[in-house]
Amino acid sequence: MTERTLVLIKPDGVARRLVGDILARIERKGLAVTALEMRTPDLDVAGTHYAEHAERPFYPGLLDFITSGPLVAAVVEGPRAIAAFRQIAGGTDPVEKAVPGTIRGDLALDGQQNLVHGSDSVESAEREIALWFPHLARA
Ligand code: TYD
Ligand code: MG
Repeated sequence: MTERTLVLIKPDGVARRLVGDILARIERKGLAVTALEMRTPDLDVAGTHYAEHAERPFYPGLLDFITSGPLVAAVVEGPRAIAAFRQIAGGTDPVEKAVPGTIRGDLALDGQQNLVHGSDSVESAEREIALWFPHLARA
């Protein structure tokens, strides 16, 4: 079943020149990048993107980080794309959870600056794609 998911290469990934490496991993997995844009999000977009975490203590710092510089937003498509991307991303904590071979397990150390975001469900994916790429929203 073909799905689409919203991927962010966060500001640390851009600053560390890992955009090409991360996009290559997505493509080598067999997924397709079908929309791609670099931009620095404003607080409104960042806050809406991470609204589920609004009450968590790390939320203000997360918004500071995600708005701190350019990131790459992408729509990624393929069979089971949501789970497939989260598999190659690795667990949220790059040391405690992400295993070697994953983006975070290979390339990150920090629990906040962990290089990538991937939608966690079909509902999240559609909400996030509509937020980052309004022209691709489905009715
Ligand atoms: P979350 O949605 O739980 O993780 P994931 O990115 O794997 O879906 O959290 C969103 C981001 O918030 C996470 O990538 C990094 C940051 N974060 C923290 O800074 N501290 C934390 O304790 C957690 C859980 C997340
Ligand atoms: Mg999440």
